Amino acid sequence: MKIVSVVEEMKHISRSLHVENKSIGFVPTMGALHDGHLSLIKEAAKYNDYVVVSIFINPIQFDEKKDLLAYPADILRDLEIAKKIGVSVVFKPTVNEMYPSGFCTFVDTEGLPQNLCGSNRSGHFKGVSTVVVKLFNIVKPEIAYFGEKDFQQAVIVTRLVKDLGMDVKIAVLPTVRADDGLALSSRNVRLSGLERGDALCLFEAIKNAKMLVASGVTDATSIKKSCLRIINAKKSVKKVDYVSVVNRDTLLDVPFIDESALLAMAIWVGETRLIDNCSFAECIV
Ligand code: PAJ
Repeated sequence: MKIVSVVEEMKHISRSLHVENKSIGFVPTMGALHDGHLSLIKEAAKYNDYVVVSIFINPIQFDEKKDLLAYPADILRDLEIAKKIGVSVVFKPTVNEMYPSGFCTFVDTEGLPQNLCGSNRSGHFKGVSTVVVKLFNIVKPEIAYFGEKDFQQAVIVTRLVKDLGMDVKIAVLPTVRADDGLALSSRNVRLSGLERGDALCLFEAIKNAKMLVASGVTDATSIKKSCLRIINAKKSVKKVDYVSVVNRDTLLDVPFIDESALLAMAIWVGETRLIDNCSFAECIV
């Protein structure tokens, strides 16, 4: 496994692989790798000759310095995991390598980032879009892999690739959960024992919402209310950023649940912000 920190070296490797007609599957991450990341890497390995994983805690997508500083990082552990699972190249640039002095070009999608996570985290998706486009230009993948857990991020990346005519396919894979249902996230390591238990309210809310829809309830307001009841019953939940029912493509609020609806939630458990979502196609009666 190659470990690369320099943009020009990564570009050189990508160019050489393409000259040899080899395909590159790319998994962009911020590290603290878990089984959610690994599911993307395994899928990339299945369909590509080489797998490149980037590990870069992207400062411009954090709206709060405190959150950036608290973001979990363990590069040695990550490298060991990446090597074991058969990653070909880990690209781990420094902040200065990605954003040298004078850097002033940003990518923004209008509309899609305004609601859900965009309304509470100003500039977050501009930061994500910018780093993703830059990483795509450096790594030059045929296919890039994203998780459905960050649903809005996947929608925005899919949109920007289409709008900018970029030559990369976006694959979006299902959320990987712990045995008890908690969506895996790098941020979960920051939860105390009590918080870890209370964080399960997101999965409980999803299970309950699916049960309601399966029993014929399609009114989004009732679904949201029942989710909020479950979430607000937990002591460690400090704040609810949103509980929304939106259209999967436009991300705009919808009044009724149908095949195209998505339940999306973001809450603070103690000092940790967690998100989760689900669709209802399989439970609509
Ligand atoms: P990060 O949170 O490290 O996630 C990297 C990728 O793993 C994202 O596509 C995310 O959706 C996916 N992922 C995270 N948890 C998952 C889970 N439980 N199941 C399946 N996939 C999961 O998302 C980012 O980093 C950054 O915003 C990034 C795209 C790298 C840009 O900086």
